[in-house]
Amino acid sequence: MFNRRSLMAASLAGLVALMGLASTNVACARESADPIKVGHYGSLTGAQATFGKSTSNGIRLAIKEFNAAGGLNGRLVELIEYDTKGEAREAGTAVTRLVASDKVVAVLGEVASSLSLAGGRVAQQYGVPMISPSSTNPAVTKIGNMVSRVCFTDDFQGYAAAKFAWENKKAKKVAVLFDQAAAYSKGLKDDFQKAFKEMGGEITTTQAFTQGDRDFTPQLTAIRETNPDILFVPGYYTDVGNIALQARKLGITVPMLGGDGWDSEELPKVAGDAIKGSYYVNHYSPDQPTPAVQEFVTKYKAEYGGATPDGLAALGYDAAKMLFDAMKRSASLSGKDLAAAINSTKDFPGVTGAITIDEGRNASKPAVIVEYAGSPLAPVFTASVDVKK
Ligand code: PHE
Repeated sequence: MFNRRSLMAASLAGLVALMGLASTNVACARESADPIKVGHYGSLTGAQATFGKSTSNGIRLAIKEFNAAGGLNGRLVELIEYDTKGEAREAGTAVTRLVASDKVVAVLGEVASSLSLAGGRVAQQYGVPMISPSSTNPAVTKIGNMVSRVCFTDDFQGYAAAKFAWENKKAKKVAVLFDQAAAYSKGLKDDFQKAFKEMGGEITTTQAFTQGDRDFTPQLTAIRETNPDILFVPGYYTDVGNIALQARKLGITVPMLGGDGWDSEELPKVAGDAIKGSYYVNHYSPDQPTPAVQEFVTKYKAEYGGATPDGLAALGYDAAKMLFDAMKRSASLSGKDLAAAINSTKDFPGVTGAITIDEGRNASKPAVIVEYAGSPLAPVFTASVDVKK
């Protein structure tokens, strides 16, 4: 566990070590004393603000620990962070600033796949490695060798949701309501439908909305007509809350099921009991009993005034730590060397599971299923689905 004082002591020790170097070779010492700049771009404000803030907290905790342990041979990591406000255009601008002006060695981000697609293209163009902690759309890492991720992809996430609906909930008929403005939601909708149909299930209707919509009555009325066993909503928490409230009002009482985009403490605040008894797929749950998860939860709570880390915090932490591990193994901090080191990561022990970067620069990890249960309403770890289909 870290407190402020022991951290300062550790970084002071790092400085003293560097000063020793300075007496032998001043130029070299000055160079090696420069901090290593790492970028993060995320939605720190705007509709999806909990995504960026949680990710930032996870990254900052990882940096604090890395620096306290002496950094990279005494060189400390400095974080440069820009707000995307949840907008794709801002994401492109943020990554351009990070790689072209700030000259970061690597970029962490984004959460939302549409934004990682925008930012990833810039990182690839400049030859600077980007690790997305949490973008699950398959297209993100197809941008090129500079772009990787520490999370599973939506083909697996869609399968995990379908398997849970079919096997655990014994659902035969599922209605789908997706966000046509998000690459994430469109892809996850397709992947879920494909997997559920292959298992023998029926998709009763597929309805679309656009993120930020306020009225879902037309779609929900059409869905009610088809009498589904489950309503699958692969959207972001910002819309899911209103959808749940309106669905219940229209008399749709069946459980809702979603993906990682539901992961925010804001969702139960907006939806209240309307979301009770519903489920979502996620990368991690703070009540998984494994030592890696429990240690992380304890450290995070101590650092952030008792706040419980969500999946984004855990993935931000894992992405930063995997980057630091790659820095240690890399021949240099050039984009080419660092990307090669990142892309050869094997069995890195993350909070969200062991991370091996495969040929497509993705990570295969199990998913967890979380239920909104209890009083007060809270996300509760229900089941875990393994990667193997
Ligand atoms: N997977 C989502 C996307 O690709 C982002 C997300 C991940 C949101 C994890 C919440 C938790 O857009």
